[in-house]
Amino acid sequence: MNLPRAALALSLVLAAACSSSDDPTASPPSTAHAEKDRAAEAKRLLTGPDWYRHAVFYEVYVRSLQDSNGDGIGDLPGLISRLPELQALGVDALWLMPITPTAFADSGYDVSDYTGVNPDYGSLADLDALVSAAHARGMRVMLDLVLNHTSDQHAWFKESSADRTNPKADWYVWSDAPSRPDIGCGTFNAQFGSEAWTLSKARNQYYFHRFYAGQPDLNYRNPEVVKATLDAARFWLDRGVDGFRCDVIGLLVESASGCDMIPETQAYIRQLRALLDQYPDRAMVAESTNYETAVPYFGDGHDMFHMAFNFGFGYFWGFPFAGDAASAVSDKLEASRKDAPPGAQEALVIGSHDVSRAYVAAKKVESRWRRAAFVQLTAAGTPFIYYGEELALRPGKAKIVDSRDYQRAPMPWTKAPGHGFTTGTPWLPFADEAELTNVEVESSEPSSTYSFYKGLLAARRGREAFGAGTMTFVDGGNPAVLVLEREGGGERYLAVVTMDESAPQTARLPVARVSGAPALLFGDAAVAREGEAWSITIPAEGMALFRAE
Ligand code: GLC
Ligand code: CA
Repeated sequence: MNLPRAALALSLVLAAACSSSDDPTASPPSTAHAEKDRAAEAKRLLTGPDWYRHAVFYEVYVRSLQDSNGDGIGDLPGLISRLPELQALGVDALWLMPITPTAFADSGYDVSDYTGVNPDYGSLADLDALVSAAHARGMRVMLDLVLNHTSDQHAWFKESSADRTNPKADWYVWSDAPSRPDIGCGTFNAQFGSEAWTLSKARNQYYFHRFYAGQPDLNYRNPEVVKATLDAARFWLDRGVDGFRCDVIGLLVESASGCDMIPETQAYIRQLRALLDQYPDRAMVAESTNYETAVPYFGDGHDMFHMAFNFGFGYFWGFPFAGDAASAVSDKLEASRKDAPPGAQEALVIGSHDVSRAYVAAKKVESRWRRAAFVQLTAAGTPFIYYGEELALRPGKAKIVDSRDYQRAPMPWTKAPGHGFTTGTPWLPFADEAELTNVEVESSEPSSTYSFYKGLLAARRGREAFGAGTMTFVDGGNPAVLVLEREGGGERYLAVVTMDESAPQTARLPVARVSGAPALLFGDAAVAREGEAWSITIPAEGMALFRAE
């Protein structure tokens, strides 16, 4: 899709709609929309406690974003140096994957010290510098809080596993047998290919772990553990971070009848939320372990998470976009929100460090990842872009930790060897085709995925309806066309996307519902008045965003 061509198509359409005044089917000239100062609006929306609803987040694997010292490993000073580029793309907030010290059995999700910085990435002073540099730009920084488990190299676990009588003997989940009747979650972790119980020789007992054996689960039935982990969260809040992405937070406490978001876990989450609420303008987002619904994470709308990921859409959009039913997309968007409390805000993704690159999920069909991103960026919720998605980054060529490294390759900024990421040898090889999919090449190419993202992010910027407006699925009379209506801040928008990859498709919207000719903000469409309806024709594989009356 070519943006200048889309703009031209629109002006022709509008010219035709507005000039034939003696044609009885001609529309009245479209009402001129009162235009707001979008930069001032963006600033207003991103200030105060609701900032997270309006922010565009960017998930960063610090190790792979930018190296500053030639060791081939991305670091915090490197990330600071890229803030201008990220802001220019339209990013308002960062979620950093774990930056704490780690034994690196799970890429940092095995924390060996909750209140330090991984020396590969820098120091606490570097983290402070990142937070100040981001804040100076009006950007925010959210950290990953991995509470369910620590590393087996954490001092707490070293102590706990030393014998059965030490002060931290009960800080982890121990058993004489490799199972326990009060823990009803099975003994085999299929996802991580390991038994859930591992023998500690020193104690001659087994410890429970939901993930790798190097990630022993903390015992949240012990109040000392509750206190120690809340203290860790407080440590970062005191340093000024803007909030947390909470890793597998539903799994904290186990019981005989269930292990996901049981009441004891919910009680902990309420304590964590109460802690955040002692600080101004902080927010937290839940990594849901429920792919059907995000609702359990919102509590009453005020006492648990500000946001929760909708993975039903975020991790599975490849399937509906391989078909031609728009309802398959709207169903995914709706299911997760059903019965959500008022004000619940979903976090919308099309990928992450855990699942294949969007390029792979789209089966390499360019319009699929673009149309999925279009839905992500126009539907109700806060978008989280995984670094490299804006380039349609390809899968990586190698793995070190596990196969998820294929979606964790270093960011290619330029065409040159090292791709502007490092002057040394990158810790992990660059992804396929990095000489084509890099910021330098794509930012100078109007039809690139990068230009697509930048254009769409600019189009939605400073428009309250996208962050906090209502969302309605409008029936445009064509099952292949999804019509999303967003309304808020006294404005109305229509996001129209086709599922058809071979022929143009037309949706019709009654004039009674949409009075003036919808004004194209982004994408490609032909709009015409047909009797009492507006016909909106979207080219094969296309999408269009309109301002409407
Ligand atoms: C979450 C993380 C994943 C990690 C797991 C264990 O699912 O996103 O990367 O392996 O938790 O911490
Ligand atoms: Ca480095």
